[in-house]
Amino acid sequence: MTPVEHFKKLAAEKAVERVKDGMVLGLGSGSSAKYATMKIGQLWQAGVLTDIVGIPTSRYTEELAKGYDIPLTTLDEHPVIDVTIDGADEIDPNLNLIKGLGGALVREKIIGMVTRHLIIVADESKLVGKLGTRGPLSVEITQFAWKTHRRWLESLGCVPVLRGGEDNPYITDNNNYILDCTFPNGIDDPAEMDVILNNHPGIVGHGLFLNMAHESIVAGEVGIRVLRK
Ligand code: A5P
Repeated sequence: MTPVEHFKKLAAEKAVERVKDGMVLGLGSGSSAKYATMKIGQLWQAGVLTDIVGIPTSRYTEELAKGYDIPLTTLDEHPVIDVTIDGADEIDPNLNLIKGLGGALVREKIIGMVTRHLIIVADESKLVGKLGTRGPLSVEITQFAWKTHRRWLESLGCVPVLRGGEDNPYITDNNNYILDCTFPNGIDDPAEMDVILNNHPGIVGHGLFLNMAHESIVAGEVGIRVLRK
């Protein structure tokens, strides 16, 4: 296991210490959050946890959880989630996030929004001073009129690239496309960008997760750090 993988696992397993019987859990997506689902699955199979239900944020996570026989439910059945453990692509000093390189951003945001305690787990390379400086902002769009959406996003000052390319575009769990939008100098005003993107027809969702995370557990060379707002 590479050091970065080791850090992801350390952070994710630390977060699982917050999981208790009786909880409804959001199960995150991506290569960091998967270690949390795996650990929860191991605790379930060992009989350490006996009374939990999980709501997966992606089809991939659903299959992973099923592999451990973790009992699954839906938001319609359980509209409030106690704890969600998820990853992020960028974490700023106020615990505002960019998520979505794994493609599950829309379900992750729906689940994060109704979570009492959202824990973000990551290796320390995800910490940034300014959002949009480490990688692109993923924007999920309708397949219908996607080039129109691309043009509009360009007008916001970014370089949007269709994930997967035109010959083989990536299709999300919700049957949409993703445009990965690189902002050459990062995102100056994430709150303003959030409103602009939220209000544009054809934009299904985007990777800015502002004021949603309650805690971030980050692992790196100096050990595990727990960051709170
Ligand atoms: C999934 O859609 C994403 O939001 C992930 O949570 C995010 O990309 C972090 O993924 P990694 O843990 O694989 O870096």
